Amino acid sequence: MSKEYAIAVIPGDGIGPEVVRQGLRVLERVAAAEGFAARTTVYPFGADHFLKTREIFPDKAFDEVKGHDAILLGAIGDPRIEIGLLEFGIIAKLRFELDLYVNLRPVRLYAEHLCPLKGKTPEDVDFIVVRENTEDAYAGMRGFFKKGTPDEVATQEIIFTRKGTERVIRYAFDLARRRGRGKKLTLVDKANAVRAMDLWTRTFEEVGREYPDIAREHAYIDAATMWCVKNPEWFDTVVTSNMFGDILTDLAAMIQGGLGIAASGNIHPGRLSLFEPIHGSAPKYAGKNVANPLATVMAVSMMLDYLGETRAAARIEDAVAGLLRSKRIPSLGSDSGLTTEGIGDLVLEALEQKAAV
Ligand code: IPM
Ligand code: MN
Repeated sequence: MSKEYAIAVIPGDGIGPEVVRQGLRVLERVAAAEGFAARTTVYPFGADHFLKTREIFPDKAFDEVKGHDAILLGAIGDPRIEIGLLEFGIIAKLRFELDLYVNLRPVRLYAEHLCPLKGKTPEDVDFIVVRENTEDAYAGMRGFFKKGTPDEVATQEIIFTRKGTERVIRYAFDLARRRGRGKKLTLVDKANAVRAMDLWTRTFEEVGREYPDIAREHAYIDAATMWCVKNPEWFDTVVTSNMFGDILTDLAAMIQGGLGIAASGNIHPGRLSLFEPIHGSAPKYAGKNVANPLATVMAVSMMLDYLGETRAAARIEDAVAGLLRSKRIPSLGSDSGLTTEGIGDLVLEALEQKAAV
């Protein structure tokens, strides 16, 4: 009997629904070719649903989502709604309540012409960022005192726990070993100024002793952004805290060609996990059929890889890489001259050709 996966889909806001539509076409096609089935349940949560019903993400639906094998998310965020309300109510809720402590963000350049850095080739841009995904300032321990007065005080705590730090560092060491590329793990932090990050420094050293085959490197976040542009080849596997990982991976997306290709997995190893493009809802492009869906297509690839469908995952990645190398998809922005749907068509076509050989 062929395998069937239950996938919860949250298209969300802005360009989310358009790019997810193409991701799902690719999922269906590759499933048919590889002989498994993907049963999708689509959830309407996001700005429109909130404006209509005042519901953000009700418990009943959340419990239902928990019964799936994986989650595919488009994008959340809408200028009509208070900043952070849906981001916290949907994305952060999933990350925290499902304890998705790894945010995995591959940075891979598929074709030299896509890289804005002079002289850098696909050999030079091939690393992966392991971003901690459940702590830091994102934990939401915040408050306002004397709000709206000249004496206002605003706080938001950066929290790191030993457990939270250790598990993500351990995941990153294991990943560096599995990748087997540079056998190198770089810790990115700001322990010289944020002294609480001494916890990261110590944990990295202690856990690292269990991985004598993996070289340990270190860079402060400010220097890491500089290295990312100057010598991206220096990185293999990178581990960092939540907020630094958020910032570093938008920069890293640009050196792989743009946010149009950058995908991520929000993972709790062995448990229900969530896959999404790194880009946001880009309201100004919503509904225009110009957004590039490749980041979502690559999120589908990551999801299948996680589910153990490694051949299907590789097939998608190869198809996308081929289209970029041949310049049939010439760029990753909204100015590629192709429509969202047109790019979906090209990916399906490329998958078809692969299947024929
Ligand atoms: C991301 C996004 C989110 C984050 C926002 C939407 C809360 O930027 O996934 O990188 O900061 O984590
Ligand atoms: Mn981000």
